[in-house]
Amino acid sequence: MELLTYCTILLVCSLLLKLLKGKFSPSLPLPPGPNGYPIIGNLLDMPTVMPWKTFQKWSNVYGDVMLLRLPGNPIVILGSTQATFDLLDKRSDIYSDRPTSVMQKMMFWDWAMSLMPYTQTWREHRREFHQYFYQRKVPTYHPVQLAQCRAGLQRLLASPTENVGQNIRQIFTAIILKVTYNLDITDLRDEYVVMAQKALEGVSLGTVPGKFWVEFFPILRHIPSWVPGNSAGKMADHYKPIVEFMRNKPFDEIKQGMMNGNVVPSIASSLIERVYKKSGEDYSTPIDDTLARNVAGIAYAGSSDTTTSAAQSCLIAMSLYPEVQRKAQEELDRVVGPNRLPDFDDHEDLVYLRAIVLEAMRWMVVLPLCIPHRVIRDDEYKGCLIPKGTIVMPNIWLAV
Ligand code: HEM
Repeated sequence: MELLTYCTILLVCSLLLKLLKGKFSPSLPLPPGPNGYPIIGNLLDMPTVMPWKTFQKWSNVYGDVMLLRLPGNPIVILGSTQATFDLLDKRSDIYSDRPTSVMQKMMFWDWAMSLMPYTQTWREHRREFHQYFYQRKVPTYHPVQLAQCRAGLQRLLASPTENVGQNIRQIFTAIILKVTYNLDITDLRDEYVVMAQKALEGVSLGTVPGKFWVEFFPILRHIPSWVPGNSAGKMADHYKPIVEFMRNKPFDEIKQGMMNGNVVPSIASSLIERVYKKSGEDYSTPIDDTLARNVAGIAYAGSSDTTTSAAQSCLIAMSLYPEVQRKAQEELDRVVGPNRLPDFDDHEDLVYLRAIVLEAMRWMVVLPLCIPHRVIRDDEYKGCLIPKGTIVMPNIWLAV
């Protein structure tokens, strides 16, 4: 009897082991990808300019789940909408983490919620952010959006060929600065417009996958920036004060105003009020306002460049495809008429225009490689093992 029990336990255990092994066996193949070199893997193959184009070529060869071997964690590039949806959406419980980046830290971008790991701190930021940007809240910002768009149109009318791109940038940066910090932007060269543009230029240049070896060998960050060839150090020195300015300057101004008894309503002032209310202190007492500062900062940082870029793509599309522009004008004339400007009430009826906006965002996708995700445990997809810690990047440029 004892022997029978022993044998049964042994059988069950071995079956369980077999099942588990079958699920995430080291013998499961890794996704295919370009051959690399020993130790450094694909490090030397990594494209540094428009990497999404090279990834597209590779995906055509290796398929829509492709692995790049790099020192530290491998990178999986997703080359189809289906694979992106299957992993990042359907399995978001394990794919919502973010890789930590040495360059982001060196450039002072590690406070940004969009780059934070999937932790309690991120959840708190997200909850706070959501208070001000859930879908039904957004219409409260329509008056600001309309006012800034119309001011921008006046500027374009007065000067249709000069500074068009910067003019568009002013519209979108002015909108987010007004709702977040109640700041009024009246000039193309306003420091808040220019500094946000530069700070975001920094994050996009500094986070090209594979560009900076310091990501794979973090010890390199201790090399002084004056050492010839230390492009990572030089870049960090250049951008860090700009990013600090962007996150702190408008917030500090609002806070100072509140300390002086001057509370102008805005997202930042509401965030500050909430922090102080929670602490029970008054505005003259210094308290930890990191969460409020970060949430206001990410609204400013997350929106100014993305929305500008999407609107600029629409304008480029209109100049390249005049027949599409003509049809859009016909729709505007029919729906809105000649005596007023369109507003949000016309949105539903401007079917063709809405399609143009969506198509422009597909055509010149704003963040072609999204913001990298990281899987928090071993996973299996299409018969391949995606090991814990793998960085996962959907190639949106190819997938749409
Ligand atoms: C055309 C406009 C925009 C585009 C194309 C865009 C694109 C993106 C993308 C691709 C992500 C990463 C999603 C992911 O990794 O799963 C993201 C995240 C984020 N975006 Fe945007 N975005 C736009 C506008 C905005 C605006 C207006 C705001 C703020 C008001 C904003 C704030 C954020 C934040 C806070 C995150 C991080 C979300 C999180 O960590 O959960 N974005 N955006």
